[in-house]
Amino acid sequence: MSSSSSCTNILSFLLTFIVFVLPARAHQSRGACFTSIISFGNSLADTGNLLFILNKSGSVSQVPYYGETFFHHPTGRFSDGRIIADFIANAVGLPFLAPYLPHYGDGRSFKKGVNFAVGGATALNDDFFDKKGIKLVAKNISLDVQLKWFKEFLPLMCSSKEECEDKLSSALFLMGEIGGNDFNHPFFQGRSFEEVRTFVPSVINAISSAITVVVELGAKTLLVPGNFPLGCISAYLSIFHVSNVEDYYEETGCIKWLNEFSKYYNQLLIKELDHLRKMHPYTTIIYADYYQALITIYQSPEKYGFQCSPLGACCGCGGLYNYNSSCMCGESGSTMCMEPSRYVQWDGVHLTEAAYRNIATGLLGGKYTNPPFTETCSLLEPIGNLE
Ligand SMILES: *[C@@H]1O[C@H](CO)[C@@H](O)[C@H](O)[C@H]1NC(C)=O
Ligand SMILES: *[C@@H]1O[C@H](CO)[C@@H](O)[C@H](O)[C@H]1NC(C)=O
Ligand SMILES: *[C@@H]1O[C@H](CO)[C@@H](O)[C@H](O)[C@H]1NC(C)=O
Repeated sequence: MSSSSSCTNILSFLLTFIVFVLPARAHQSRGACFTSIISFGNSLADTGNLLFILNKSGSVSQVPYYGETFFHHPTGRFSDGRIIADFIANAVGLPFLAPYLPHYGDGRSFKKGVNFAVGGATALNDDFFDKKGIKLVAKNISLDVQLKWFKEFLPLMCSSKEECEDKLSSALFLMGEIGGNDFNHPFFQGRSFEEVRTFVPSVINAISSAITVVVELGAKTLLVPGNFPLGCISAYLSIFHVSNVEDYYEETGCIKWLNEFSKYYNQLLIKELDHLRKMHPYTTIIYADYYQALITIYQSPEKYGFQCSPLGACCGCGGLYNYNSSCMCGESGSTMCMEPSRYVQWDGVHLTEAAYRNIATGLLGGKYTNPPFTETCSLLEPIGNLE
């Protein structure tokens, strides 16, 4: 399904390396751009909140394979290693983001940042899905709830309105990825394209309201990611597999209608961010183009060090694209690939550390951010090395 013509060019990989990594090395000043990072989102950004919720009874045993590459144990990140937020944090000279729930009430853990993102979280509130009979992974973790946690948390960070505005104005806000699950949950539960498409404006509204809340509290710099090309994700490829080749892009092997859905969502998000920029002219609202950052990898995987046909997951129980919803990565019967650094997809829904590193490099280099991230912060540390 995917062509092999794009799978040759090691030279352009090296050129990319030189162009995007070396200029960053030239700068020496550490942590000059932001004093902290404050993050909201779902499993693409979670660094341990869902694991804490699921393990409140202490009954969750070690989940194999997750965290294997970098941390060598499961941390609650949905990857074999670091995620995009980890690479961003390190690049701006800040430590990995402490998850809020496990360190609740402990101000010292959050000096340089705090992460409210929870795996499974939606932008819309639970009742939206409850009314429609759509099941959620966990209750009461939506974006609105994460904002409530943030407001509860603020007194740990600052004690007067002025001090809070000051602290928040020097923080980098990661607003997402959030919204993807508002579509994943219904799509995976068999809801139609027509129905799920009607959710899009409400999801955009929820994200826009959250941005407005943090801006009014004092946020000055926000990074807001769009959605990945859903038609390239192993779980979608497996669940929506059809034999009609017309439904797939010849170049990448991704499913057309699902990528069109992501593009539609991203267009509306971009439009809303334009509107927000007009409302808040002294705030920098950066769009992070996750779609383009990932599709570029699928268009020439070898150029970025990945295997030639990268649509299958590294960790799973076999089957189409190595994704099976009744036997997922970490469950008994699952195995992990030998070389996760050559895979884009980790468990069928989330990506590998190698893919996240690549995406983060593109975002921080300014290639997939608008306005370019480098205009806000060019004092970047080199992206963490491979081991
Ligand atoms: C769950 O909690 C128990 C008890 O605190 C702990 O021993 C165990 O390692 C935790 N599981 C995971 C996967 O973190
Ligand atoms: C949801 O979480 C919020 C904030 O932590 C809390 O105030 C509320 O009682 C919770 N609601 C439910 C239904 O658990
Ligand atoms: C998915 O996993 C279940 C449980 O292990 C197994 O019974 C089923 O055959 C698998 N399906 C495919 C298509 O591999």
